[in-house]
Amino acid sequence: MAIQKIRSWLVLTFLGTTFSILSSCASETEKSEAEIPVSPKEEAKQLYTLHCASCHGMDGKLGGSGSKDLSKSTLSETAMIEIITHGKNNMPAMKDIINDSSKIKNLADFIKTLRK
Ligand code: HEC
Repeated sequence: MAIQKIRSWLVLTFLGTTFSILSSCASETEKSEAEIPVSPKEEAKQLYTLHCASCHGMDGKLGGSGSKDLSKSTLSETAMIEIITHGKNNMPAMKDIINDSSKIKNLADFIKTLRK
């Protein structure tokens, strides 16, 4: 009888330990997932939503502030990067807001995907 009690105590302790190890593992995973950086493509979309969609619209066609329809733009990547960086007429320069040339390049790649 006593042995059986000890056995079931051991089993319960074992299960309890396993469970707490598993759940601490799970929270470790959650933590590291949040730390995984978003892909450049995802990041470009987020930047576009934040800084560009107000004038250009999510599909590039909005035409706010007299902007061009980005889905019909024929500019080269270099020319787009130039306009995004330094602005043009009513288009504000983004170089102080997005001061990372690779992010601006990724943005140019993103707006190219709006072309049909
Ligand atoms: C305040 C409104 C506004 C915001 C915000 C804005 N733009 Fe513009 N954009 C314009 C206007 C206006 C033009 C037209 C400039 C011109 O040619 O006179 C333009 C032109 C462009 C062009 C050139 C299109 C072509 O074919 O000539 C690109 C590319 C562009 N914008 C990308 C972006 C990106 C990327 C962002 C965000 C980082 C952005 N714009 C944010 C107003 C805006």
